Amino acid sequence: MTNNASKTVADLKRSLTLTVGHGNVWFADDDAARLLPYLSESRGRRMGRAFAVVFPTCTEEVAKVVATCHFHKVPIVTQGGNTGRCFGAQADDERAVIIQLKHLNRVRDFDPDNMTITVEAGMILQDVQRYVAERGYFFSLSLGAEGSCQIGGNLAVNAGGINVLRYGNARELTLGVEAVIANGTVLNALHGLRKNNTGYDLKNLLIGSEGTLGIITAATLKIFAPESNTSHAFIALASVEDAVTTLRRLQQRFEGRVSTFELLPNLAMTLMEQHSDVKCPLDNHHPWYVWYKLADSQITRPLRDEQITFLRDLQVDGLIIDAALAHNERVKQHFEHIRETIVEVQKHAGFAIKHDVSVPVSSIAQLIAAGNAAVQQACPNVRPYPFGHVGDGNIHYNLMCPEDMDDASFMSQYKDKLQKIILDIVDGLGGSFSAEHGIGSQKVELMQTYQDPVALDMMRRIKHAFDPFNLMNPGKVVVPR
Ligand code: MLT
Ligand code: ZN
Repeated sequence: MTNNASKTVADLKRSLTLTVGHGNVWFADDDAARLLPYLSESRGRRMGRAFAVVFPTCTEEVAKVVATCHFHKVPIVTQGGNTGRCFGAQADDERAVIIQLKHLNRVRDFDPDNMTITVEAGMILQDVQRYVAERGYFFSLSLGAEGSCQIGGNLAVNAGGINVLRYGNARELTLGVEAVIANGTVLNALHGLRKNNTGYDLKNLLIGSEGTLGIITAATLKIFAPESNTSHAFIALASVEDAVTTLRRLQQRFEGRVSTFELLPNLAMTLMEQHSDVKCPLDNHHPWYVWYKLADSQITRPLRDEQITFLRDLQVDGLIIDAALAHNERVKQHFEHIRETIVEVQKHAGFAIKHDVSVPVSSIAQLIAAGNAAVQQACPNVRPYPFGHVGDGNIHYNLMCPEDMDDASFMSQYKDKLQKIILDIVDGLGGSFSAEHGIGSQKVELMQTYQDPVALDMMRRIKHAFDPFNLMNPGKVVVPR
C-alpha cells in the first residue's frame, strides 16, 4: 500500500469511528472473524468481503457514515436481518462498508386515528406486528423470516408474504419513508398521507430499490382493525385449475375477506411427513392442497359457520376432494406450520433450482402444466415443487434434483436450461421473473433478458441520477452499462 493509500484508509477509519463510536464499527483488518456473520449470505451459500461493518444508532449517524463513504468513494451495502434470497444485502468488495441497521429499532409514532405506525428501519418485523397487536390493531405483513427480518429490508425488496391478497405487499402498506441518499443527506418523505400528489413518487422508487438508490431509515405504515373473525381451511384438490376456480368462488362469496390462499404439491406433503413433525390434516394423500384463510374484523356471523356450507357446495360440484376446517387455535397454527415447513423440507430432496415468479392468476394452471411438461422433457424425472401464493399469482416454482441424479450433475447440466424453460414460459404469459424476493446480485443478468429494454434504460438513468458514483449497493438490481 502506498503512503497515500494508507493515509486514506486511516482517514476513513477515523471518520467512521468518530461518527458511531469505537464499539459500533468493526474493521476487517482488525478482527476479520467478528465480521463473518455479516459477510455470510443468509443460508451460508456465499462468503462476501468488506472493509468494515458499522452499527449506527440513528438516522443522523447513518447520514454521516454515508457522507464519509461518499467522500472516500467507497461502496456502501445496507443490511437488515440478512434474510434475503438474492444476495441483495451481501457485500463483496474489500473496500465496502456494511451499514447494519439493527440499532435503529424504535417506534417513532403510533397514531390509531390515522391508522398508522412509524417505525425505524431496523425493527424486526415480528416486533412491529406485536407492538401493533398489543394496542388492539393488526399489521398485516407476514412471512417466514418475520422473527429475524427487519422492516427496512422488507421495504427494500417490497416483500410480499402470505397476506397480500387482502392487505397488499410492503409497497401498498407504506405511506411514507425517510431515507439517506447517496451524498449523505436525509430525504424526509415520512408522511402519513393517503393522498399526496406533489410530484414524483420518490417513496415508491426507494421501496423495492434494494438499497441502490438510498437507505430507508424509517417508514410510516398502515395498520388495520384486528382480525377478530377468522376461519382457516385445508383442502385437497385434483388439479391446479380446481384451485384457481375455488379461489374465484371464494372471492365471490367472501369478497374482500380472503387473506391467504396458498398452494402445496403432494411432494411437499410427502417430504413433510417423512422429515418433519407435520401430519397431513386429511386422511389420504392427494395431488394438490390449499391452505386458505378468511379474515374479518366484524363478528356478525362467524366465518367458520358460513364456510361449512360453502365447502359442501364445492365438494358437490366436484371442485375439492376433501377438506378440514380449523375448529380451534391449535389447528389454525398447525395449518400455518405446514405452510412454513414447505420451505425447510426441500433440502431433504437434494438440490433445488428455485424460482420466484408471478403470472396473472388466470394463467397459473397453464404455467404449471406447461412448465411441468417442458422440464420433464428436458430432464426426465426432475421433481417439480411449485408452491406458494396462488392468491396473488406468485408461485415458487422450484425444481428438485431427480432421485437418480447427483446434485452436482443436476446443477451443472440443468440449472441454466431448466431456468430458461420456466422463465420463458412465465415471460410468454406476461409474468415476472421476480415476484417478491427482489433482484439482488443473483438476478441482475436476468434483467437484461426479461426486463423491458426501455424500462431497464430508464432504471439505469434513475440510478445515475440518485447515485452518480455508483456507491449504493453496487452490482445489485441494475448495473451501469
Ligand atoms: C415462501 O413463500 O415461503 C418464501 O418466499 C419461499 C422462500 O423463502 O424460498
Ligand atoms: Zn413466498
